[in-house]
Amino acid sequence: MRVLLTGATGFIGRAVARALRQRGHTVVRAMRRAAAGDADALQVDFAAVPRSAWWTPRLEGIDAVVNAVGILRETGDQSFEALHTAAPVELFHACAAAGVRSVVQVSALGADGSARSAYHRSKKAADDVLRSLPLRGAIVQPSLVYGPNGTSAALFNKLAIAPVLPFPQGGRMQVQPVHLQDVVDGIVRLVEAPPDRVATFAFAGPRPLPLRAYLAELRAALGESSPQWIVPVPAALFRLGASVAGHLPGSMLDRETADMLLAGNAAPDNRLPALLGREPLAPRAFVAPATREAARRGAALDLWLPVLRIALALMWVWTAAVSFGLYPVQDSYALLARVGLQGGLATIALYGAAVLDLVLGVLTLAAPARWRRTVWLAQLALVGGYTVLVTAFLPEYWLHPYGPVSKNLPILAAIALLWALEPPARRER
Ligand SMILES: NC(=O)c1ccc[n+]([C@@H]2O[C@H](COP(=O)([O-])OP(=O)(O)OC[C@H]3O[C@@H](n4cnc5c(N)ncnc54)[C@H](OP(=O)(O)O)[C@@H]3O)[C@@H](O)[C@H]2O)c1
Repeated sequence: MRVLLTGATGFIGRAVARALRQRGHTVVRAMRRAAAGDADALQVDFAAVPRSAWWTPRLEGIDAVVNAVGILRETGDQSFEALHTAAPVELFHACAAAGVRSVVQVSALGADGSARSAYHRSKKAADDVLRSLPLRGAIVQPSLVYGPNGTSAALFNKLAIAPVLPFPQGGRMQVQPVHLQDVVDGIVRLVEAPPDRVATFAFAGPRPLPLRAYLAELRAALGESSPQWIVPVPAALFRLGASVAGHLPGSMLDRETADMLLAGNAAPDNRLPALLGREPLAPRAFVAPATREAARRGAALDLWLPVLRIALALMWVWTAAVSFGLYPVQDSYALLARVGLQGGLATIALYGAAVLDLVLGVLTLAAPARWRRTVWLAQLALVGGYTVLVTAFLPEYWLHPYGPVSKNLPILAAIALLWALEPPARRER
């Protein structure tokens, strides 16, 4: 079969493309950025809502369409209305007009009559139109999908690895996560043998379980043997934290995704076992043994690197505040005198260093990705420089019981780790 796949670069789309090819089908990948001259790639931007007339000639020779475009949060011109409703509706009308044999729409569990979030309502609007058209096919409604390189999988790994987790209701809301491989197997079956009229298929794991039990299973699957302590916190506090997180670049959490998490996500009518002819994978089998240690390390880094950055930023900002006057200024001048700096030079050194500390503190949290390596190098140079100066002129500080200089050694190591962990893609840009 010749299958047009939208969202082909996504977490689910990539895996569907691979599986369809393995089954011998030809996949035409619809992408926002397609390489020129690639006959099996089509450049399309759903934000621009291409009309059905644009699609019609491009659907010639296509047997089936799978739509896996989606966003969890709106940004810029990436709106739910355009990406989840208007653009797919144009595509579905074109499929009906062009006589495409079947359409599989990747919707989401909860996109039903009781949907409250804009995310779910925008999906439901497109699903309803598809159901009304004279087409064969399926609306697939997956629960939370877990799989390698999935953004939500990374989030749940990170939550699972945390030793203590503050969470509303103590994490007792029901979830029914499903593994990517099961979702892909289900989609491939529906492409190959579509129902005669568009039917809805909830795709979920073997059974609902409280979120805290899911995290416990994931934690064990990641190889952590100690139990996790989940501390109940008021939902209002969680929503407030999510609203703040919503302003951070790349955050999965905002007010609306927090509400979706709080509402839970379970499927009373899970059609995946019947479709696959077997039980879907249970969460304890989500992490393949061969990838366990890499996944555990990835989750630990995802969890602790932001903590390390915040701690470093606070250290710089606090050092600046101390230099600006929390520490008696005369005592600071006395220390500088021992390094050989006096008068105007000492003032420049004291306040110049304080400003530098403050700037580094702010950049530790706010530097754009392309600057970060330079920021870490500047910090290494400064901490290293301070350490050399103190060693040369104030060596007695090495013998201080609170270790004001010796603590620079683990700080240098931590900054070197942050430098080394900056993603290579950013380095190449
Ligand atoms: N993952 C889950 O847990 C889960 C659960 C339930 C339902 N779903 C639904 O499943 C679908 C796929 O999810 P996913 O996890 O694979 O998401 P994903 O990894 O974020 O992939 C989204 C895909 O949509 C494409 N896309 C985004 N904006 C576009 C635009 N303006 N024009 C054309 N394509 C655009 C992306 O292309 P770029 O690479 O260019 O960004 C990417 O290929 C979504 O509809 C999602 O709501 C996912």
